[in-house]
Amino acid sequence: MKNLKKSEMLGFKPLRGTVIFGSRVRLREKKLSDVRRDYAWQSDPELSRLDAAPTLITPFSVYLLDYAVEIHRPRSKRYPLAVETLDGTHIGNCTCYDIDEKKGEAQFGIMIGDRDYWDRGYGTDVVTTMVHYVFLTTGLNRLYLKTLDWNLRARRCFEKCGFTPFGDMRRNGLRFVLMELRREQWQQLHIPDKQESESSV
Ligand SMILES: CC(C)(COP(=O)(O)OP(=O)(O)OC[C@H]1O[C@@H](n2cnc3c(N)ncnc32)[C@H](O)[C@@H]1OP(=O)(O)O)[C@@H](O)C(=O)NCCC(=O)NCCS
Repeated sequence: MKNLKKSEMLGFKPLRGTVIFGSRVRLREKKLSDVRRDYAWQSDPELSRLDAAPTLITPFSVYLLDYAVEIHRPRSKRYPLAVETLDGTHIGNCTCYDIDEKKGEAQFGIMIGDRDYWDRGYGTDVVTTMVHYVFLTTGLNRLYLKTLDWNLRARRCFEKCGFTPFGDMRRNGLRFVLMELRREQWQQLHIPDKQESESSV
């Protein structure tokens, strides 16, 4: 995080040593030992198609070098985390990026690379955990994301976490749905929980 000005990150804690607990996952700083799985996931045509990203064709040796540099000195305005199950299995990644101090917002991305963990609520737990972390501990007021219109699993996962569509866009012949979650919406979603838990005490 050396190259990040603290002010640019609006209260995100330093990545080093970060562990954020959800109910099924923990989100932690990226480690060099994640590199084989990340390489396999980024080289996987189905995963890159779902993510609207180019399939990686870089040789592993080059990827490893870039990976080590990124871990040592993460790019500015990004908060990349690995997703682990509670027993320590690395199953994917999530990132807040384009963190914009002036606008008080950031873009969010997620990839559960290990298919054995799809449709079992892990994605929902990752997104919910990150949303709570952002609104409880940073100064951001809005998270947004884009997802392919036909990626119904991703759209459903984001909807379950409170994201709502606010537009669409076309790029390179692909159609994306734009979704957002604002702090006020998140507060409204969680105030009933608070009232319920208070009344049940
Ligand atoms: C998208 C992703 C993050 C979702 O995580 P996940 O753990 O699989 O999702 P969850 O189990 O929490 O929720 C998925 C929901 O979608 C539903 N779903 C799955 N396939 C669906 C489909 N074809 N149509 C509609 N809903 C679908 C599931 O039933 C579940 O909803 P429910 O709990 O109401 O039954 C994960 O699957 C992933 O990373 N996939 C590969 C890459 C990708 O698509 N990334 C997103 C880029 S924006």
